[in-house]
Amino acid sequence: MEGQQANEEDKFILSLPRERGWGIPDLYLFQEFWCPSILIKEVNLFQKDFEAKDSDIIVASFPKSGTTWLKALTFAIVNRQCFSSFENHPLLSSNPHELVPAVEFIYRGDVQFPTIEPRLFGTHTPFPSLSKSIMESNCKIIYISRNPFDTFVSAMSFFGKIKLEPLSTLKMEEAFEMYCNGIIEFGPWWSHMLGFWKESIAKPNRVLFLKYEDLKEDANFQVKKIAEFLGFPFTQEEENNNVIESIVKLCSFEKMKNLEVNKSGIIYQFLEKKYFFRKAEMRDWENYFSPFMREKLSKIIEEKLDGSGLSFMI
Ligand code: A3P
Repeated sequence: MEGQQANEEDKFILSLPRERGWGIPDLYLFQEFWCPSILIKEVNLFQKDFEAKDSDIIVASFPKSGTTWLKALTFAIVNRQCFSSFENHPLLSSNPHELVPAVEFIYRGDVQFPTIEPRLFGTHTPFPSLSKSIMESNCKIIYISRNPFDTFVSAMSFFGKIKLEPLSTLKMEEAFEMYCNGIIEFGPWWSHMLGFWKESIAKPNRVLFLKYEDLKEDANFQVKKIAEFLGFPFTQEEENNNVIESIVKLCSFEKMKNLEVNKSGIIYQFLEKKYFFRKAEMRDWENYFSPFMREKLSKIIEEKLDGSGLSFMI
């Protein structure tokens, strides 16, 4: 019976529209997003089986938008009473993706469920496809977005390094064309962002929508905002003792990139940790985009985000 069910599931997956992945073989258009083939069954399991607790915190993002950074900050903020020493902090010996595992990879069996509470999870699954129990619970969701220009460049570089895609690495022109059509792991990027954006407006106590660029501009302010949203506000004494600054420093790109734990080794069985730390610069896209690409992507952003109130400085 189980075998028969698996067969039905495989048949269903094979009937979906398919495109090549950027770094992972095959993307299937599943529930209106381009789901990597290796994660469809897992997203299904997540939707059906995941039991959210009201105290859970979900760090959601479109790939390459600053997930690693937000996972580190969230972990440091909510666990600061347990790990007040910044010299001996778990983030110095574990990668943020190990401390805040992605639910999709938990269901693939690559990582364990977190055991300490509040449980922190990451996810790239779009808002409408999150598990029913998340929708029904009072758990908090923090979403990080990034301007689509820099996200494209970051994704090009990242997926180009992953060797799971058996075809040759995508050329810049091909990748750009796919990106403009929304075809990328967990894309389209516009509907991904808009799903969380709209929910953050409808339910501001449930979903906090952040921008990578705002974190770069004023990390202290954003950390304070995240802590308040999550129900872990900083006390005056903590502020006087520069706890916010210490968290920002601990999670800074320079600090994290140069930690031994992030320089080698893999997570989720196949992703090199060092690939998650590249340049962390704003407007790096200017080094790659032709005037044609700039104009085309600007128009798409304008058209897709029109009327939503969401915009990005480029
Ligand atoms: P670049 O490729 O532009 O350098 P994600 O974590 O969602 O995969 O996003 C990766 C992007 O975030 C990469 O951008 C990476 O360098 C950047 N990044 C990783 N850790 C960071 C940190 N601590 N602070 C700021 N940016 C960080």
